[in-house]
Amino acid sequence: MSRKLTVIPGDGIGPEITEQVVRVLQKVKAPFEYIEAHAGLIAIEKHNELLPDSTLNSIKETGLALKGPITTPVGGGYKSLNVTLRQTFDLYANVRPVCSLPGIETRFSDINMIIVRENTEDLYMGIERQESPDVAESIKRITRKGCERIVLYAFDLAVKLQRKKVHIAHKANIMKLTDGMFLDVFRKKAESYPQVEAKDIIIDNCCMQLVTKPEQFDVIVTENLYGDILSDLCAGLVGGLGVVPGSNIGEKVAIFEAVHGSAPDIAGQGKANPTALLQSAVMMLQHIGELEMANKVTQALCEALQHKESRTADLGGKGSTASFTEVILQNL
Ligand code: NAI
Ligand code: MG
Repeated sequence: MSRKLTVIPGDGIGPEITEQVVRVLQKVKAPFEYIEAHAGLIAIEKHNELLPDSTLNSIKETGLALKGPITTPVGGGYKSLNVTLRQTFDLYANVRPVCSLPGIETRFSDINMIIVRENTEDLYMGIERQESPDVAESIKRITRKGCERIVLYAFDLAVKLQRKKVHIAHKANIMKLTDGMFLDVFRKKAESYPQVEAKDIIIDNCCMQLVTKPEQFDVIVTENLYGDILSDLCAGLVGGLGVVPGSNIGEKVAIFEAVHGSAPDIAGQGKANPTALLQSAVMMLQHIGELEMANKVTQALCEALQHKESRTADLGGKGSTASFTEVILQNL
């Protein structure tokens, strides 16, 4: 039986990689009825709106979306549509596995961790105020409910995946109320998970440890801003933004997307690596219980990554988005 899947190609490299990932899903006969919806600059062209109601309604109806990146203007301009989507559907858990991949040479070869980023609160709520032309402020808002659900999500995920350790990365030494509450909730909830080692680490030390001894980390739970930054840092440990996937999980809706953005520097040139979005699609298959299908795609991808020549340029290869996907399709 097939289920409806909202596909949002997005901006920049989004349409190029989304097209290829859908080819792979079709090749393995993933049980989806694909419904294209638009958000971002492309939606302005097609609907004269950045985030049309038709897109929101589609996600509401299907509860499941595969999404390409969306460009957000820096400084002025409109609010991030990614943040809007996460808030609208209360997608509180941003789950980003970071794993060493076979054949990709990096400084470390045994990284296998999951970043669990709180996705709806913190400085990303967009509560900003211009006090005077020369003074502006941004409010960091954290709720106990927000802390509890993300901490529980991280511990439950650790148990489900038989992970041994959960670190909380925080700055409770400085932000005693906000990060202090987050840490307090973590310590209390940890008591219910004696089988998981609960550790806390201050975010700056965490960054240093990640680039020197990343293999010590298993699951890291953290706030929205820290999680955003750590995700890109960790991507750099395993081959770059072209390979790291993610999911945005709520009670009723789940949206799967890569960690990376719309990469305007390489958009429209067939250079984008589809791996990160494909791995996000693998997470989506796991999410709906298609574990065998997910393994099949992962295997075909890993085999394709072994041939350096056929990889995309970000991984030192000569392949294009389409030709690299072709190798994956042949492996299937
Ligand atoms: P970016 O992640 O788009 O690009 C950073 C660097 O990584 C660039 O050099 C890019 O070419 C490279 N890169 C990224 N994805 C790649 C891929 N699949 N294959 C090969 N190389 C890849 O970050 P940047 O440039 O800071 O942001 C560009 C736009 O994307 C901004 O408007 C930003 O707001 C938006 N963005 C959207 C996200 C989303 O929709 N979830 C997430 C992050 C950024
Ligand atoms: Mg980011």
